[in-house]
Amino acid sequence: MKIANIVGARPQFIKYFPISQAINRFNETCGNVFDDILIHTGQHYDYNMSKVFFDEFGMKMPEYHLEVGSGSHGEQTGQILQKVEDVLIKESPDIVLVYGDTNSTLGAALAAVKLHIPVAHIEAGLRSFNKYMPEEINRILTSNVSTLLFCPSKTAVTNLIYDGYKNILNEGELVEIDFLLQNKIKLNIKADKNEPLVINVGDVMYDVLLYALKIAEERSDAIDKLQLFGKQYYLLTLHRAEITDDTEKLHEIIDFVNDVSVNKRVVFPMHPRMKNVYKIAKNKLNQNVEIIKPMSYLDMLMLMKNSDLIMTDSGGMQKEAYWLKIPCITLRDETEWIETVQSGWNVLYKNYCGLRRPVKNDGAYYGDGKSSERIVSVLAEKLIEDKL
Ligand code: UD1
Repeated sequence: MKIANIVGARPQFIKYFPISQAINRFNETCGNVFDDILIHTGQHYDYNMSKVFFDEFGMKMPEYHLEVGSGSHGEQTGQILQKVEDVLIKESPDIVLVYGDTNSTLGAALAAVKLHIPVAHIEAGLRSFNKYMPEEINRILTSNVSTLLFCPSKTAVTNLIYDGYKNILNEGELVEIDFLLQNKIKLNIKADKNEPLVINVGDVMYDVLLYALKIAEERSDAIDKLQLFGKQYYLLTLHRAEITDDTEKLHEIIDFVNDVSVNKRVVFPMHPRMKNVYKIAKNKLNQNVEIIKPMSYLDMLMLMKNSDLIMTDSGGMQKEAYWLKIPCITLRDETEWIETVQSGWNVLYKNYCGLRRPVKNDGAYYGDGKSSERIVSVLAEKLIEDKL
């Protein structure tokens, strides 16, 4: 059974990694069930935004690199759609896996569904309820054309129920792996073949983090290289279009960062999207804010783990801060990861009134680090079912 995994942007290489490991494990135990084809759209192309992740995970290189590159949303999404279609016609996979909410996610999902190839959406059901975000449009449309919707949390399932999805496995609770292995899932698929299936599998990002933390501690020299000391610095990242492309908003965020970080060293790995506004950032940010190049995943883990506070507009980092027990300020007006806010570990910058350090993380909101195993078990059941 052929699976086409389609990635293109930095977080998608990270999310694909545990899936590739779970596929390999499944193949080792059950005898090469899956043929895993990896397609890289080329949305991200700088070494630090793309190949570094393959190198440090020792991940196989993509079978196809479509070299789409940067462009306006329409141009980029259109090119992805067109180029992915060519590959899918050639490869004719049984299912296409797409990740998250980037233009690569949407372009690939559209290419697949128009060829009547089923789509599985990993990280489905997130909503910011802000349609000015390109990611919100990408998520809604991708889920709309998907057959399998793998949600990272109960909240994500609830959002999909609100959107009208009815075929919800295990009432939206994290599904047990044993439950999947006992083939009970077949019943739900058979119940209505055309109705997409929504499953809470937990978050694949947690799988990667648990796997990579020990490796990062052994291998990463980022802390030494940057001469950082544990809890003596804040970490800052910014890349969202709604901030970098809106000068007024950018100034507001920079003022906020300056206020919070007086007298504290701040490390700021800068996303290439910021290069257009580099001058503003460089001139306006406090002297204690140090702009550095984007970091690899392992280096970033170490930077996060040793920081005293994280300020970010990234979705992934809000959760990573939560898992690592580092307080986080989200530099946005809303967040999709509301559990991190409810637990007290994360706060929207407009609501910030001093640093809080909750004693513990009391909710396993995003699964148990076995999301990829669940996803691959479901895929096996679903594909076997469809072939019968
Ligand atoms: C994209 C995703 C966003 C995700 C982010 C992760 C969309 C709409 N957005 O945003 O959801 O959180 O990836 O990083 O898909 N650039 C380079 N080198 C690169 C890649 C980009 O210089 O390797 C620059 C280019 O100027 C480009 C700009 O960054 O125009 C933005 O890149 P793009 O892929 O369009 O969006 P991201 O901001 O990276």
